[in-house]
Amino acid sequence: MPSTFDLLVSSLLTAAVVNCQQYDPPPRTSDAFTYVQPRNTTILGPYGHSPPVLPSPNATGLGGWDEAFAEARRFVAQLTLEEKADMVTGQPGPCVGNIVAIPRLGFKGLCLQDGPLAIRVADYASVFSAGVTAASTWDRNILYERGFAMGQEFKAKGAHVALAPVAGPLGRSAYGGRNWEGFAADPYLTGVAMERTIQGLQDAGVQATAKHYIGNEQETQRNPSYNYSGPVLEIDQEAISSNIDDRTMHELYHWPFANAVRARVASVMCSYQRLNGSYACQNSKSLNGLLKDELGFQGYVMSDWGGTHSGVASIESGLDMDMPGGIGPYGLYRQEGSFFGGNLTSAVNNKTVDETRVDDMIVRIMTPYYWLHQDKVYPSVDPSTVQLNTFSPRSTWLREFNITGEASRDVRGNHGELIRKQAAEATVLLKNKGNALPLKAPKSIAVFGNDAGEDTMGAYNGDNFEFGTLAAGGGSGTGRFTYLISPLAALSSRARQDNALVQFWLNNTLIVDSNVTDLWIPTPPEVCLVFLKSWATEGSDREHLSVDYNGEDVVNSVAKACNNTVVITHSSGINELPFANHPNVTAILAAHYPGEESGNSIVDILYGNVNPSGKLPYTIAKSGRDYNALPTTKVTTAGSYDWQSWFNEKLEIDYRYFDAQNISVLYEFGYGLSYSTFSLSDIKVEALVKSVSSAPEDLPIQPGGNPALWESIYNVSVLVTNTGNMEGATVPQLYVTFPDSVLGTPPKQLRGFDKVFLAPGKSTNVNFELMRRDLSYWSVVSQKWLIPEGEFVISVGFSSRDLKKVISIKPLTD
Ligand SMILES: *[C@@H]1O[C@H](CO)[C@@H](O)[C@H](O)[C@H]1NC(C)=O
Ligand SMILES: *[C@@H]1O[C@H](CO)[C@@H](O)[C@H](O)[C@H]1NC(C)=O
Ligand SMILES: *[C@@H]1O[C@H](CO)[C@@H](O)[C@H](O)[C@H]1NC(C)=O
Ligand SMILES: *[C@@H]1O[C@H](CO)[C@@H](O)[C@H](O)[C@H]1NC(C)=O
Ligand SMILES: *[C@@H]1O[C@H](CO)[C@@H](O)[C@H](O)[C@H]1NC(C)=O
Ligand SMILES: *[C@@H]1O[C@H](CO)[C@@H](O)[C@H](O)[C@H]1NC(C)=O
Ligand SMILES: *[C@@H]1O[C@H](CO)[C@@H](O)[C@H](O)[C@H]1NC(C)=O
Ligand SMILES: *[C@@H]1O[C@H](CO)[C@@H](O)[C@H](O)[C@H]1NC(C)=O
Ligand SMILES: *[C@@H]1O[C@H](CO)[C@@H](O)[C@H](O)[C@H]1NC(C)=O
Ligand SMILES: *[C@@H]1O[C@H](CO)[C@@H](O)[C@H](O)[C@H]1NC(C)=O
Ligand SMILES: *[C@@H]1O[C@H](CO)[C@@H](O)[C@H](O)[C@H]1NC(C)=O
Ligand SMILES: *[C@@H]1O[C@H](CO)[C@@H](O)[C@H](O)[C@H]1NC(C)=O
Repeated sequence: MPSTFDLLVSSLLTAAVVNCQQYDPPPRTSDAFTYVQPRNTTILGPYGHSPPVLPSPNATGLGGWDEAFAEARRFVAQLTLEEKADMVTGQPGPCVGNIVAIPRLGFKGLCLQDGPLAIRVADYASVFSAGVTAASTWDRNILYERGFAMGQEFKAKGAHVALAPVAGPLGRSAYGGRNWEGFAADPYLTGVAMERTIQGLQDAGVQATAKHYIGNEQETQRNPSYNYSGPVLEIDQEAISSNIDDRTMHELYHWPFANAVRARVASVMCSYQRLNGSYACQNSKSLNGLLKDELGFQGYVMSDWGGTHSGVASIESGLDMDMPGGIGPYGLYRQEGSFFGGNLTSAVNNKTVDETRVDDMIVRIMTPYYWLHQDKVYPSVDPSTVQLNTFSPRSTWLREFNITGEASRDVRGNHGELIRKQAAEATVLLKNKGNALPLKAPKSIAVFGNDAGEDTMGAYNGDNFEFGTLAAGGGSGTGRFTYLISPLAALSSRARQDNALVQFWLNNTLIVDSNVTDLWIPTPPEVCLVFLKSWATEGSDREHLSVDYNGEDVVNSVAKACNNTVVITHSSGINELPFANHPNVTAILAAHYPGEESGNSIVDILYGNVNPSGKLPYTIAKSGRDYNALPTTKVTTAGSYDWQSWFNEKLEIDYRYFDAQNISVLYEFGYGLSYSTFSLSDIKVEALVKSVSSAPEDLPIQPGGNPALWESIYNVSVLVTNTGNMEGATVPQLYVTFPDSVLGTPPKQLRGFDKVFLAPGKSTNVNFELMRRDLSYWSVVSQKWLIPEGEFVISVGFSSRDLKKVISIKPLTD
């Protein structure tokens, strides 16, 4: 989706008006179906090819969509060619993406809306926790419940399609500007989060969109750069190419999309950047080959906004819907023209494109629509959307839209309560020296930091701002707050119950410049709470991993004077925490982007109403310099294809890398403390099938791929006990170490987790079902998932580096 938001979008729109008669697309190398032939093939090294996979497979309605599929076919049979072109081509309209109505067939059109933590273009809607926050819960129920509640709001506002959830970026680079929109730097946890979120959204009746497919791991040069100064708009340099080998593709980046397809996701959004040299929205190897053939995807592929770079080539390569329909950056230039639209009509008429392919595109679009009964009574698009939509304001519309129904409908229900709970459950307790937390009814509290107070820049976080708490990041994945509980407001309110003194300083510069001892009266506070933030937004990568606004100095300034300094971060994700071992920093909480109940959620944790159980969905290294897989940012040459990103680290991202390289870290993947303590005992493994073959049985493809891959073949169980004296939840995690025979496999990989709530002294048995996929690697030679010979080590513990119980299995000889 467009990164651009209000400012950039309006400037683009202005530019579009100025340039609209002048733009011609740049010449392209014959729109070779799958990739742009590089001028110099040497620079593409071992990659360079995205082999053509043609033709684009027809949907068949398999996996339980057969009735809806039949309805979709009946619908398509009634369409004229012009109507067919309309069905696959976006139009400027009330929503961020619009497919026009066909009144003669009773089809009311489609409204597509951002984004992964809220319906963005809306008033009276909730702002939920971000993906990274939700992933930190490691809680399947919360992930579902969050998706369902969001889905209810999308539907009530008349959106048919939610442009959510995100599995790309996966989090290859710590610096990725959009990592927070997605879930975890791990395909397994992200896969579960995708599945649960999609089930939630779609059970609420709204279509989900798994995005961004695929390899969208950095923001820098995710789109081509344009030369705006000439008489025609020309591409200076093409978008970055993510060059990913086949095994890494399957085992990391594609993995969570398999979960998404298996969960019957309606739509997949192809990403902006190139993949092995070819734009992701015209890459037939990934769209036709991996997604539609291998995973059996039955829904439709829509382009990211302006991510379509050709007509015929994209259609042949598997793209089913062009969004938002126009040409040029973010699809905003020449909005009356499209690579699809009228061009599709003429390409069918001149027999370049087979009309059956177009029929398949529409069948794919309409099958989930019927499956979710969106043809039945469905709320109208809330008229307030028209005013709020800066992406395609009314002045840009080329068609009339029938705007009816009550405006500014309040769709929030009781979601505030859910959001409060969800973010509390997601808060990760990183340090808790001498049980500094939970607070014990302190009578004197000092609050520091520009993240503690009320927002000063409005309800819509379009940009970074100095004063005010941060509860969501920027770009298409943000939300419009109807209210936002600041930490200071929630804390002041809670502290009144104890008649406590709450003093606060929200100006970081002032705190850093001061001798903090001189600030407070009359006696040193019992606890100093320091609220820090880290901004990230779509469209640019993070420049550093430090907390913003001199936050490290704020901590040092406070901790010099206060021996009970508690640090809370509201951050997009990974931060350097150089103060972690400061003796006066007694506790650290990573709250990420919690959504609208931010203050209440953190107060619930600080005062122990909720026992923390969040776990890191990534690794916090000792130094920012320890991270690998940096974004490609320093291309200084001007060649069209010079932006290349080599995924040479292969499977070694995040903990897989730190483990493989034996690098010690500050807080590892999966880590997070509780106010209680837990133990593990009695690990057992049980084979669920009589014998295991290396290759899966060749079963007919179902959504998600070969069903044999999803078959459970072992059950591992452990007994978890709450050994402390406070009730609470913990997350036992299972990691698999593959036999040495499979070179290049990381030392261990997450393959199971469960969140369990226990009263003090209570125990419960936790079961982890290992599927065939969990014990397989992708063999590039046989083009299959294979279980290798030899011994696997199964470890269960409370983080990736706190593994308590170990057991081994030999699947092929058991
Ligand atoms: C192609 O690129 C390689 C690597 O940068 C360079 O060594 C070679 O000279 C280039 N070849 C041509 C024909 O430009
Ligand atoms: C990208 O190139 C690598 C190396 O040749 C190959 O293994 C992989 O399958 C290609 N992927 C795509 C999507 O073209
Ligand atoms: C898709 O179905 C049509 C018939 O509707 C057929 O003509 C075409 O060959 C099929 N395409 C593929 C790739 O199987
Ligand atoms: C951009 O276009 C202008 C006008 O055509 C041209 O003079 C200039 O060299 C172009 N810039 C680049 C970087 O190609
Ligand atoms: C067809 O595509 C070209 C770009 O290739 C674009 O300039 C033109 O406006 C499109 N025509 C229509 C009718 O959309
Ligand atoms: C057919 O139409 C398409 C879209 O307008 C155009 O790109 C293509 O060049 C045309 N082909 C022929 C053979 O006329
Ligand atoms: C607009 O929508 C309303 C409500 O669905 C419907 O009654 C009306 O006929 C529509 N008007 C047009 C012009 O389509
Ligand atoms: C923050 O504090 C600094 C240093 O005392 C001061 O210069 C600045 O004006 C203050 N900012 C605001 C907004 O008060
Ligand atoms: C800070 O102020 C306190 C109390 O006024 C004083 O004792 C201390 O020396 C000061 N520290 C510094 C570093 O100035
Ligand atoms: C910790 O705080 C105390 C004040 O309570 C102060 O005297 C001490 O110097 C601080 N320690 C450090 C390492 O700053
Ligand atoms: C922390 O500082 C307070 C007030 O200065 C003091 O009463 C308390 O003993 C100190 N605690 C530690 C552990 O040093
Ligand atoms: C990491 O440690 C393991 C076990 O001690 C050792 O086998 C391996 O070679 C080490 N790897 C590196 C990159 O140092």
